[in-house]
Amino acid sequence: MCTINEPPSIFRQVLYFFQPFLNSSQNITWVTPLFLQFLFSHHGFDLVPPFSASPSTHNSDGKRFLPLPPPDARTLKWPNLVVFSFEDLKYATRNFKSDTLIGEGGFGRVYKGWLDENTLTPTKPGSGIVVAIKRLSKKSSQGFQEWQSEISLLGRVSHPNLVKLLGYCWDEDEFLLVYEFMPNTHLWNHLFLIDPDKEPLSWSNRLKIAIGAARGLAFLHSSENQVIHRDFKSINILLDANYNAKLSDFGLARLGPSEGNTHVSTRIMGTYGYAAPEYIATGNLYVKSDVYGFGVVLLEILTGMRALDPERPSGQQILVEWTKPCLSSKKKLKTIMDGRIEGQYSLEAAFEAAQLTLKCLQSDPHLRPSMEEVLEELEAIQLVHNPQLSPSPFS
Ligand SMILES: Nc1ncnc2c1ncn2[C@@H]1O[C@H](COP(=O)(O)OP(=O)(O)OP(=O)(O)O)[C@@H](O)[C@H]1O
Ligand SMILES: [Mg+2]
Repeated sequence: MCTINEPPSIFRQVLYFFQPFLNSSQNITWVTPLFLQFLFSHHGFDLVPPFSASPSTHNSDGKRFLPLPPPDARTLKWPNLVVFSFEDLKYATRNFKSDTLIGEGGFGRVYKGWLDENTLTPTKPGSGIVVAIKRLSKKSSQGFQEWQSEISLLGRVSHPNLVKLLGYCWDEDEFLLVYEFMPNTHLWNHLFLIDPDKEPLSWSNRLKIAIGAARGLAFLHSSENQVIHRDFKSINILLDANYNAKLSDFGLARLGPSEGNTHVSTRIMGTYGYAAPEYIATGNLYVKSDVYGFGVVLLEILTGMRALDPERPSGQQILVEWTKPCLSSKKKLKTIMDGRIEGQYSLEAAFEAAQLTLKCLQSDPHLRPSMEEVLEELEAIQLVHNPQLSPSPFS
């Protein structure tokens, strides 16, 4: 088995507006110089936020400006969302005190806050319900568009397998998002942060998470106008206390192709190791580009190894390239399965999951299954190989 180590910081670079900056999470968005050259020669900047109808958010100096609509308009547009004041969120997080800090990603820091359960007004820390509050970093120029996309999408759709956005704050140059709190962090942590005091993520929980995530993606893909997540990866699969998966981070999401078109043409964004080959090569984004990302996550689930790990020997760093040939034979599959869960699954179940992974990783997007089909196959694997979950014939 490979040893699992933290990636060096170069692999944590995030490519937002092609201004890589380091973040403290394990997010890996990586671009080779050749790839960058390709981007600049073939794709201009696309400043139109994915879901927003508002004009460019940058003035002629390239500085961010704030096209503030009247507060009423904002409230009416997303009636399900609470509009918080910055003072509210300062109170809810004890002035963003360091001990309320949960983590930090490309968007900025994420804090724990407390709100009254019924009124969603800020309460004394430690009482009411816990929420996660993301505060846009002043250093992040892309973040404003991400902020808009999150609100535009999660303000109009909701699903048990998408993280719930409770509200937002727009106050001078402060932009924040308030989500339900997910106590069990994300799939990435459970697969790759090895804590000797903790049991490794079990086979049945891995399957449960894959099914939840597949349901979330299937919902996005089948929603009106189809939504493509564009940054599907294990770090963006949040988990509740019972390992129910909820997709997060819709900042890069795009509406699917309009009628008669197979794809949308976009700037190339996302995360190296998960992004589909046709998208990296051409900027053509298909709904099925997400299915490829799902296949990569399935591979991480089966093997317990990261999509991209510069610490692995050369030839093994990109998980898909290295392990794909092992997926079509049971004998080879055994050599790459996560040894920490040996004995918890039947080889038949693992092989079926490997076949599904292979289908998701097809180079031609048209040959990949839809997320509905992926979901059906995963549920079939779960039922056949966990008979206790099958509906009783007497019920
Ligand atoms: N709703 C939430 N509930 C609990 N923790 C959360 C929630 N949203 C985010 N977090 C945690 O906050 C940290 C930062 O998350 P964030 O989504 O900003 O960045 P990331 O996922 O680490 O990287 P990326 O920039 O690629 O999204 C992560 O540890 C994540 O698990
Ligand atoms: Mg995230």
